[in-house]
Amino acid sequence: MEHRFIEAPGAALSGVKADALLVVLTTEHHHTGDKAVDALIDDAVKHGDLALKAGRSLFCRRPMGAGKPHLVLVVAAQDGAKAFKSAVAKGLASVKDLAVAHVAVVAADGLALQSAHARALVQAADEATYVYRQTKPSAPAAGKLRKVSLVGPKASASALGAALKQAQAQVAGVALARELGNLPGNHCTPSHLAVEARKLAREYKHISAQVLERPALEKLGMGSFLSVTNGSAQPPKFIILRYEGAAASQAPVVLVGKGITFDTGGISLKPGAGMDEMKFDMGGAASVLGTFRALAELKPRINVVGLVPTCENMPSGTATKPGDVVTSMSGQTIEILNTDAEGRLILCDALTYAERLKPAVVVDIATLTGACVIALGGIHSGLFSRDDELAQALLSAGQDSGDTAWRMPLDEEYGDALKSNFADIANVGGREAGSVTAACFLAKFTQAYRWAHLDIAGTAWKSGGTKGGTGRPVMLLSQFILDQAAAGKQALAPQAKPARKPTRAPKA
Ligand code: BES
Ligand code: MN
Ligand code: ZN
Repeated sequence: MEHRFIEAPGAALSGVKADALLVVLTTEHHHTGDKAVDALIDDAVKHGDLALKAGRSLFCRRPMGAGKPHLVLVVAAQDGAKAFKSAVAKGLASVKDLAVAHVAVVAADGLALQSAHARALVQAADEATYVYRQTKPSAPAAGKLRKVSLVGPKASASALGAALKQAQAQVAGVALARELGNLPGNHCTPSHLAVEARKLAREYKHISAQVLERPALEKLGMGSFLSVTNGSAQPPKFIILRYEGAAASQAPVVLVGKGITFDTGGISLKPGAGMDEMKFDMGGAASVLGTFRALAELKPRINVVGLVPTCENMPSGTATKPGDVVTSMSGQTIEILNTDAEGRLILCDALTYAERLKPAVVVDIATLTGACVIALGGIHSGLFSRDDELAQALLSAGQDSGDTAWRMPLDEEYGDALKSNFADIANVGGREAGSVTAACFLAKFTQAYRWAHLDIAGTAWKSGGTKGGTGRPVMLLSQFILDQAAAGKQALAPQAKPARKPTRAPKA
């Protein structure tokens, strides 16, 4: 998809060269400054063909004459970017089956366009034209739409133009994450994720990839990660992605993504209904790959490392059993009371590995708990951190990118539920506050650096009729990294010294 900024031609909208003009109105702002268009709007309102209510729209076929664009009027609920996105989506849907290749989006006078509107437009265009076809050759052909422009005042040209460009790179990352999420578990295996990582490294100059295989993981002492793969015929992989945009001396932001390519629950088997959706259990990993894709095009001056532990969680005669005790890379032993709480088992070893990168901050991203879906649904990702400054930076990046998170508590007291009689720690607490006790488990492996955890169990994909990956939280993560790069000396600095004794990890 192509995106351009078009300088508003003032009183003559019919002069905009596009196949369709999509005018976003609100109850308050319903004029454009173009006399003919405004007369048409007034007449439509007067005769009841267009109510100035959120969600209403009217398609007019070439009202400005043959050879001139179609006109689509859409009423947004408010002036904000969120309502703008829905309105643009609605307008694009109405021309989707027509011979329309270029839509120019115009905001009504008084509706002040900002960067967020440009971002919303790019996202709406991407979502409107996405068709999954990797394993569905019969999928309908994508429509004719190739270009969605934003018409705005001359004074905003550079800001909105830049915003369109940035959003386009971010959305390319979203698209990669969404596609990997949608790909079935028999296609999107740990090996496939490794192939995708290597592909990014091949395609983009500033990205490199390294993949650790089982022998290396054994040598590192990743007994917790490896315990999850015991029942699977697919080999585990530990993917390390590097984006180098700054001097090597600059501490990296580290992203750690849960890459369970299918979660059956293992011996603690999940019920059958809806289990297919556990192909999306690599959403954290996909968001790391997607964010790297975005970084490759945005080229911010910052270093980023992505860590992706990836494997399947399967039952079998060799699978880990409830009650088994394993030794993590940190040296802490773990009693696996429930093999379905596998995400934290693969993440904890990746989080211990992150120590050696001497990170500025570490953010892990995981479809970690059903409890988080119950708490927050599909609106906000759950954000857990004891670091207020880091939490605030992530929340702001979420707000600014429209990919929001909601902060959850992480008091030490919640961790009491993880006591075990047979190991240093149990892998599950009780039913209460399940997303918080999961985060508390991870907290026991992240004492050496500044850390935050995003539980994306509710936001990484949608269920029901529109079942499919969302590509979240690539917008949030890429925005966070851009913000950090732009902050320069004000960026989050590494933790001064380990809050606790270093881990007992073997040298490797
Ligand atoms: N991948 C699931 C979490 C999940 C469940 C995400 C449903 C989205 C929808 C995770 O591995 C899991 O199974 N978690 C368990 C933890 C429990 C055993 C403590 C859960 O949430 O039920
Ligand atoms: Mn599970
Ligand atoms: Zn899982």
